Amino acid sequence: LADGPLRGRRIVVTSGPTHEPIDPVRYIANRSSGAQGTALARALAGLGAEVVFVTGPATVPPPAGVEVIRVETAQQMLAAVQAALPADAAVFAAAVADWRVANAADRKVKKDGSGRAPALDLAENPDILANVAGMGQGRPRLVVGFAAETHDVEAHARAKRARKGCDWIVANDVSPGTGIMGGTENEVTLITEDGAETWPRLTKDEVAQRLAQRIAEALA
Ligand code: C5P
Repeated sequence: LADGPLRGRRIVVTSGPTHEPIDPVRYIANRSSGAQGTALARALAGLGAEVVFVTGPATVPPPAGVEVIRVETAQQMLAAVQAALPADAAVFAAAVADWRVANAADRKVKKDGSGRAPALDLAENPDILANVAGMGQGRPRLVVGFAAETHDVEAHARAKRARKGCDWIVANDVSPGTGIMGGTENEVTLITEDGAETWPRLTKDEVAQRLAQRIAEALA
């Protein structure tokens, strides 16, 4: 482990998308690359933290120097996060699927020749961030969520912070044309108990380093 201000601190980071199976060969997914979560885990480890990196099937490789726990579904991600606790902080950068397929089949679904398509029943997934933020005993001292919004970023992020019960929200504008979703840069507003700060447009690595620094200050 690196030496630094987070030496001796244990931090859980979620990252990447989740995959929600339809049957053994098909799934519902989203376009998260895992880039921001991966950069953050790397930055936290660089400041000396013991990082548990709980990742869905991301397209970018996980960083070196962290404990990597690979999961596929939201339910598996929740279980992995709970198993990784207690921790000093938890940062939820994953793009968790809001719904899973309630009637997932255990064999490949076949066309039956009738011309009718099968129906998917969706069930709401657990909100991992809200679960951890709402823990009484054993709640990490600092719980950080992300919010990808396309409009009224600050207002929605403030509301999300209150609704989820987390300490900070890192909000960004993912409108088409910003190039943020899937890109290398990010422009974020950090919402804390003290209000909102908008950072300049930075690379995702720079956002990660600033955020890691702020987490180190908060845990000091
Ligand atoms: O409600 P929304 O999906 O916009 O919230 C985003 C934040 O909540 C992110 O930090 C994300 O990782 C977290 N989240 C979660 N579990 C869910 C949905 C979102 O941890 N099921």
